Amino acid sequence: MTISVENLPDLAKVATKLKDFAGTEKVFIFEGDMGAGKTTFIKTFCAALGVTDVVSSPTYSIVNEYESPNGSVFHFDFYRIKDIREAYDLGYEEYFYGGGICLIEWPERVEELLPENHIKVEIKVLDENRRVFHLSKV
Ligand SMILES: Nc1ncnc2c1ncn2[C@@H]1O[C@H](COP(=O)(O)OP(=O)(O)OP(=O)(O)O)[C@@H](O)[C@H]1O
Ligand SMILES: [Mg+2]
Repeated sequence: MTISVENLPDLAKVATKLKDFAGTEKVFIFEGDMGAGKTTFIKTFCAALGVTDVVSSPTYSIVNEYESPNGSVFHFDFYRIKDIREAYDLGYEEYFYGGGICLIEWPERVEELLPENHIKVEIKVLDENRRVFHLSKV
């Protein structure tokens, strides 16, 4: 599914569509260049999931945990990972296969560890405010 975004408020409609599209899937990966809008969209998506905690990039901690009415939401940013062992040390399996919702920025860094089935969100930048979102089931 491809969705055009013309401005920031449009992200709310993408979040609703992503929720519907995902069904019961729990693991979401977010691909897009630096500054494409992964974190910005995850904030909107978390709001749609009912998260009331502050959502911010977990750049220094790799993972942030938020609470939602349907359980924990884990927000990962693997950009700074230098060695796959850091993901093992984090205990990635308990997160990826633990039944909570996982939202993963820079999934390319841990590609070999991703669950076989997940939802892929690709963000392409058209210009300063415009984006194209592509949602797919992997
Ligand atoms: N339509 C849009 N969707 C998403 N972000 C947008 C949009 N228009 C403008 N922006 C801006 O683009 C920037 C995206 O930054 P953001 O931190 O979300 O990117 P990121 O993909 O998470 O980057 P990084 O790879 O560094 O984690 C923000 O400043 C945001 O306000
Ligand atoms: Mg980010």
